[in-house]
Amino acid sequence: MYIKEQIMPEPKDIRSKRRFGPIITEVELHDDITNALIKMTDTLIEDKKTKSFGKHLAGVIDKELVIHKEDLYEAGCDDFFERCVQNYVIECIAKKMYDQGLNFNTDDYDITSSINACWVVSQYENEYNPIHDHVGCNISAVLYLKVPDYKDRRKIDSKVDKQDHDGDINFVYNITPSDSLETGVVKFTAKPGFLIIFPSNLLHSVYPFIGEGERRSISFNAVYTANTFNKETRERKYFSGNQLYPIHTQYTSKKQKKIEKKYNV
Ligand SMILES: [Fe+2]
Repeated sequence: MYIKEQIMPEPKDIRSKRRFGPIITEVELHDDITNALIKMTDTLIEDKKTKSFGKHLAGVIDKELVIHKEDLYEAGCDDFFERCVQNYVIECIAKKMYDQGLNFNTDDYDITSSINACWVVSQYENEYNPIHDHVGCNISAVLYLKVPDYKDRRKIDSKVDKQDHDGDINFVYNITPSDSLETGVVKFTAKPGFLIIFPSNLLHSVYPFIGEGERRSISFNAVYTANTFNKETRERKYFSGNQLYPIHTQYTSKKQKKIEKKYNV
């Protein structure tokens, strides 16, 4: 048999990079923040005057309530969320530059970002979120506050060894066969204190669960503008993001406070 010796030298360089696809940031929050937000949302859910945000949302869920900036501020969590958004934007721009073989220095950019909508979702059995994206924003996030122990409740005999995805959130990036080397769909299981930040146009859905308990989360949307900044000429040039920066939204508007009249007796 003819044997030809194969040429097998080490390559000069080898790099595997993910050049496509969005960045999803996962954050595990400190208990102090999670607990402060559970307390804040307890108050909002109990308050009959809290407005519904449901008409703006895709969820097949009864309780989706408006959160105002001042609610997050009073809970002591406003700065934390704004910082999370800012860091996410910086990370995405840096990655975009590196992917193009370019350097990134924060000093060369003027980046502003701002949360423009926020709401609490109090989800119970059989409620769900069909596949959707978020509009009027660039960045979205979801943070879980309460998650009942709903796994393995269905007890379907023919599905005993299958993974249970009840209550999971799915992100759909592209159509990729499950036996391919790429991943087009990413699933996360909700747990208290887990924050996920993602691009607003990334399709996502939430599966229902059965049985007792409240699955509670906070979601928010944010916008950003990035300009390049020349330190010498002090010139700014548009780079990416929302050029028309919305300053006032329902989120930033003041809540209507109860007018308390005091009478001298
Ligand atoms: Fe959503």
